[in-house]
Amino acid sequence: MPAVGRSVPRKDAWDKVTGRAKFVDDYSAPGLLYAATVRSPIAYGRIKAIDTSSALAFPGVKAVFLAKDIPGKNVNPLVYDDQVFLAADEVRFHGEPIAIVVAENPEAAYAAADLVKLDLAPLKPVLSIREALDSDSSRIYKDNNVFTEYTITKGDANKAFSKAEKVFEREYETPYQEHAYLETQGMMAVPGPEGQMTVYGSMQCPFYVHDAVSQILGTTRNKVRVVQTTTGGGFGGKEDFPSIVAGQAAMAAQLLQRPVKLIFKREEDIIASPKRHPGLIRMKIGTDCQGKLISADIAYYVDGGAYATLSPIVLWRGTVHALGPYVCENVLIRSFAMATNKVPCGAYRGFGSPQVIFAGESIIDEIADELGIDPVEIRRINGLKLGDSTATNQKIDQSCGLMETIARATAAADWKKNWRHPSKRTEKIRKGIGVSTIYYGVGLGAGGKHLDRAGASMTIMKDGSVSCAVGNTEMGQGARTILAQIAADALGASYDLVNVIETDTAFVPDSGPTVASRTTFMSGNALISAGKELKTRLLPIAKDLLGAGETDEIEIIDGFASFKNPAKASKIAFQDLVKEMYSRRLMPSSFGWYVAPDTSFDKKTGQGDAYFVYSYCTNIAEVEVDMETGEIKVTRLISAHEMGKAINPQQVEGQIQGGALQGLGYCTMEEIRHDSSGRMLNNAFSTYILPTVEDSPEIVPIIVEHPYSEGPYGAKGFGEVPLMGIAPAVGNAVFNATGKRIRILPIKPEKLVDC
Ligand code: MTE
Ligand code: MOS
Repeated sequence: MPAVGRSVPRKDAWDKVTGRAKFVDDYSAPGLLYAATVRSPIAYGRIKAIDTSSALAFPGVKAVFLAKDIPGKNVNPLVYDDQVFLAADEVRFHGEPIAIVVAENPEAAYAAADLVKLDLAPLKPVLSIREALDSDSSRIYKDNNVFTEYTITKGDANKAFSKAEKVFEREYETPYQEHAYLETQGMMAVPGPEGQMTVYGSMQCPFYVHDAVSQILGTTRNKVRVVQTTTGGGFGGKEDFPSIVAGQAAMAAQLLQRPVKLIFKREEDIIASPKRHPGLIRMKIGTDCQGKLISADIAYYVDGGAYATLSPIVLWRGTVHALGPYVCENVLIRSFAMATNKVPCGAYRGFGSPQVIFAGESIIDEIADELGIDPVEIRRINGLKLGDSTATNQKIDQSCGLMETIARATAAADWKKNWRHPSKRTEKIRKGIGVSTIYYGVGLGAGGKHLDRAGASMTIMKDGSVSCAVGNTEMGQGARTILAQIAADALGASYDLVNVIETDTAFVPDSGPTVASRTTFMSGNALISAGKELKTRLLPIAKDLLGAGETDEIEIIDGFASFKNPAKASKIAFQDLVKEMYSRRLMPSSFGWYVAPDTSFDKKTGQGDAYFVYSYCTNIAEVEVDMETGEIKVTRLISAHEMGKAINPQQVEGQIQGGALQGLGYCTMEEIRHDSSGRMLNNAFSTYILPTVEDSPEIVPIIVEHPYSEGPYGAKGFGEVPLMGIAPAVGNAVFNATGKRIRILPIKPEKLVDC
C-alpha cells in the first residue's frame, strides 16, 4: 500500500514521549559559556550611558557586550530591516535587549545582568492602535506611525451601498495572543576553525537565522551553518525572533571564541518575543433583503509594536482575507500596521487573519440575525463555489470544498434540529450553537513570491534505506512524518526505511521560511521531483530483474517492484533494486527543486491571484452559558476541513485538535495586560491564562478532500487553519445562547453578565 493517505506512526513520537528528544538546552560543548540579556525597563527613551563595571566584576563573568561591539551590521535582515540586535541609541519597547552578559554559568550571567546600570532618558510612548492614530501622540515612525498600508478595490463599494437594502456597521477588537510553545527561545553558537560558526537551536526558519548570523558577524554565508534542534513548538513565534537570539549568541561566541548558549526564561520570553497582533476592525456591509452581499467597506488596523519585523506580511494576509470566503462585487479594504512602543508583533498561526475572521464571521452572523436568515444559509448563499471570484478578483477554478465542509459540519451537528433563535432560550444554563466558514491562502502567495521555492535532497543508502534533507522544519506539526510518506511514495520505498533529517543549512539551499502552512506543498513537491529522478534509474533495473518484456509495465510501491498486470505475480524487493543500483555504479542521490505556482497582486488596486490555492473550513461550536455567572462552557467543536488530500489523516486530526484548543483560548481566555507605562503585567503561565485539557471540549475533526492538481498527491496544506475560525464560531454560539453579542475578544464571563 502507498504510504500517502495512511495514518502511519510519527517518526519523532517515541523520542518525544519518552523524553529522549534533545532540545537545544540539552546540548553542550567543551568550554560552554552562558549568556543572559539586559533589557529595557521602559517603553521608550534615549540611552544616555551604560555602566558595565559592576557586572564585569561579578565572579564568573567573562564579558558584557553592547551594540557597539557588534562586528557586522546591527540589524536583523527581514522585510524592512529595522529591528536591531541590541538597542544602540534608544529603546523602543519594555524588554528590548540592550546588552548581553556572558558568564561561566547561567546564574552568574543573570545576576550580573541585573548589575548593568542604565542611564535612560524616557520619552512619551505610544501604547495602542488608537494612540498611534491620534495626531497628538508621539511620531515614532515616519509622520503617521504607519509601517505599512494596503488597499483592495473591487467595483465601487461606496456607490454600491446605495443599492443595498440594508447596511450594517460594526467595530470589533481582538487581543494579543502569546504562542506559549512549551520550549522557550534558545540558541547555542559554537565557533570553529577558519572563522566558522555553527548555530544550534529552536527555530522555524533556519535560513532566516542563517541570514541574521552572517549579518551580525559580518561574514559570508558559507562560514555559517545553522542546525535546527528538536523544536518544542513554534506556531509562528519562532519565525523571525530566533534570528535575534542566534545573532546575539553567535556574536558573543565569535568575540570570545568559545561556545555560548542563550536560553530564555519563560518570563523574558513572553515579554520580548513576538505575539499575535492586536486588531481593530471596522466593518460596513451592505446586503439585499435575502442576505446577499452587495458591498463591503473594511478598515483593518493592527498593533505592530516597536519594529515593523513581519507586520507588512502579516497585514497583507489579513487584508487579502478580510472579506472572508464570500462573493461580493464591490469591496474596499484598507489596512494599516501601526507603530507602537510595545513588543514587535509577528506571526501566529493564521498570520493576521484570525483577527479579520473574527470580525467578518461575527458580522455575517449579525446580518443573518437581523434579516431573520439561518446563519448557515447566509454562508451558503454567499460562500465561494467553483467559478466564483474572491475580493482580489481571483477566480477559484479548482479544489474548492467550502460547500462540502458546510454540509459535513452541519450534518454532524444536526444543525437544523439544534439551532433555535436566541429569544427562544430562557433556561439558567443556556445552550447555544454557532458557525463560522473560512478560507485560507496556502503558502506565501504574491506577498512573498520571491521566497516561495524549496529544495530537497534524497540519498538511497546501500541497504535500501533512504535519507532526505529538506529546507522546511519540524516543529511539532508532523512535517518529518508527512514528508517521509511523500518521499516513500515518490520512490516506491517503504515508509519505515525513509527518514527526513532535521533541517541543516549545510544540506539544502535557502528554501524559504516554514510558515504559511507551506511545508507539505513545497517540500512535498521538491521531494517528489527528487524521487522522480531516482525512479528513472530504478525502473530499468526493476525491469531487468523482473525479466520484463518491452511492453510490460512495472511499478514500484511500498518497497516492492512488480508488474502492473496482476496476472504476473513476481516481485523484487526495493533493497535488491538498490543493491543492483550500487553495483551498476548509478548515482544513488538526487536533488529536487520546486517553485510555487504563479501568483499576482497589483499593489495599487489590490487585485490579482493572491495565492495559488486556498484551503477551506467550517466550524460549529456548541456552548452552555450560565446566565448568572456568565461562565461559558464550550461543549463541542465540530471542524470540517478541506485540505486537498490528507497525507496522514491522524496527523490532520491532531492539527485540528491542537489548533481548535488554541482558538478556544483566543476566544475565551487569553489576554496580555500592560500598566500605563507600557510594561507587560502577566508574563507568566500563572497569570497568562491558557486552555488546558480540563477546558478541552469534545472536538470532532472531519476531513474533506478536493485534490489540488499541483499538490503532492493532491494536498494543499492547512496547518494554521484549525485555529482560525474557532473564535467567531464560539462567539456566535454564545450569542445564540444568550442574545448577547461580544465584539471585543476575549469573551469572558464579566462581559456577559455586565452587558
Ligand atoms: N503544530 C504544532 N504541533 N506545532 C507548531 O508549532 N505551527 C503551526 C501549524 N501547526 C505548529 C503546528 C503553524 S503557525 C504553521 S505555519 C504550520 O503548522 C506549519 O507547518 P506546515 O507548513 O507543515 O503546515
Ligand atoms: Mo505560521 S504563523 O505561518 O508560522
